[in-house]
Order: sequence, then structure tokens, then C-alpha cells
Amino acid sequence: MSVVYLNGQFMPLGEAKISPMDRGFLFGDGIYEVIPSYAGLCVGFAAHIQRLQQGLAALEIRCALTAQDWKALVQQLIQQNGAGNLGIYLHVSRGTDSKRAHAYPQDIPATIFAYCFDIAAEPEADIDKAPRYKVMTATDLRWQRCHIKSTALLGNVMHHQQAAALGLNECILFDEQGFLTEGSSTNVFIVKKGLVITPPLSSQILPGITRQLLLSILRQHSTIQVEERSVSKNEVLCADEVWLTSSSKEVAAVVEVDGLIIGAGKPGPLWLKAQSLFKINKYNY
Ligand code: PDD
Repeated sequence: MSVVYLNGQFMPLGEAKISPMDRGFLFGDGIYEVIPSYAGLCVGFAAHIQRLQQGLAALEIRCALTAQDWKALVQQLIQQNGAGNLGIYLHVSRGTDSKRAHAYPQDIPATIFAYCFDIAAEPEADIDKAPRYKVMTATDLRWQRCHIKSTALLGNVMHHQQAAALGLNECILFDEQGFLTEGSSTNVFIVKKGLVITPPLSSQILPGITRQLLLSILRQHSTIQVEERSVSKNEVLCADEVWLTSSSKEVAAVVEVDGLIIGAGKPGPLWLKAQSLFKINKYNY
């Protein structure tokens, strides 16, 4: 059984217990992170911890752990779980109250939980072997604070389930004006005439760490032109390539949107370049 961390102690998963009065359970009142780790090496660790701390500050959740403390905790967790291909899940909820009340107390200690789950081997940059994602589109019905990586994910879960129920991999979302926001658990990029385009960060988009790394890598290690600007639904449907990014998927090629074939119906040439560059450079950020 996997070893997890809960409130200062490492223990077998089956021994980790949290009160039903925990505000994470009652209200989804918490922040989380998922960090990929291969053979003990994390991708984008500092950026993930920075986003975690920004999310905690946004929700006024006090958590005493510093970036150094998180590093030590995560390293120990990785070692205790065999240091293979692991997703590291970090979760900080506001803590356990004596009652269920919307207003939050200022003085309860945060609940800090971390565990590892197995993930696939490092994604390859290989057109024939790469997964080919089929997605649907929908109007984004989540809340107005999607930049906060809150554990309250029901809006995302419902959109994702819409896709899963149809045997699709992801649901990509458009705001009321018809502009792309993101996927239910991914950021979205399109390619048109050699240009890589992704929506700019806003309160409707999670500032994905893979998105951030990919933009930096493309700008610093290639001559590929990158634009952060609004993207209409028509541009997605007519794109030469569509990509999804997330910590576990890295850069993933979409081959079908709402039943329409994208490009040549397989991962495209810029995807190959982008994923190759990502693979080579991802540990340097
Ligand atoms: N999901 N947008 C949303 C809504 C997400 O939930 C995620 C990640 C991303 C990509 O972010 P990153 O590149 O930092 O993983 C974008 C995680 C993996 C999850 O909920 O499991």
C-alpha cells in the first residue's frame, strides 16, 4: 500500500483519516497541486509550489510550509513510494472546524495531505506512438475564479464527464462570447500556418505549469512563433493542429474536435517539434 503524508506524519494510505468536519470535505475549501516525477526528478517543481502558495494566499489559508519544507516532504514521499513514474498530489484544506459554517474561522490549522499515484512513462515525441485525443466542445459553465487551483472541481468534473460519457478524452470550453478558455483538466493550444496560439491568462483559465514551461521552451529554444491571444471556436475547428497540455500529458495532440478531423488526423509536425523540445528541456525550469 502506498505511503502518504498527513499533517506531519508519513503513514500507509489506509491509516490516513480526516474528520468529516474538515472544510475540504464540506466545502471543497482547499488548494491542490499535481506534480509529475520520473525516477525521482520532478518537472516544474518550483513553479508548482509557487502556484500552490498563490492559491493559498488567494483563499487566505495559512500553511506554514515553505518551498524548502515542500521539497523535503515531496522527496521523502517519492523515496517511500519507490521513485518510479509518479504523480505527486499535494492538498491543503483550510482545516477542521467544530461545525459546518460558511464563514471560516481564522485560527484552525490547515489539513495537509500528500500522496503519490502511478503515472505512465514519460511521454515520447513519436507521431506513431503518441496518444491521439478526441475531444468535444461545450460552453464553459464553471465559476469566475478558474485561475485558483481549488479542490472544488465539480464544474470541471461535470464537463469532463460529458466527454467521458461519449467515449471522448476531454471537453474543451468556450466562454459566452465563443472564445476558448481551456479544457476540463488541460490548457489548449492551436497551430495555424506555423504559428502556435493559446489564450492569454485570465480568471477563466488555470495558469498551467506545462503551458508556462512550453511557452518558455518554445520562445527560448526554437524559432517557432508563439502568440497569446483570444481564440474563437471556428479557429479551433479549422486549426492545422490542436494540443492539450497538462502535467501528466505534457503536450498531447488532438486529432478530432466534435467529430471533425484536425489536420491530417494524426499528431502534426509542430507537435513533434514542441514535444521533442519539451522532453529535452523540461527539467531545466
Ligand atoms: N489538471 N487546466 C485545468 C482546469 C487543469 O485542471 C489542469 C491540470 C491544467 C493543466 O495544468 P498543469 O499543466 O499545471 O498540470 C489546466 C491536473 C493535472 C488535475 O486536476 O489532475
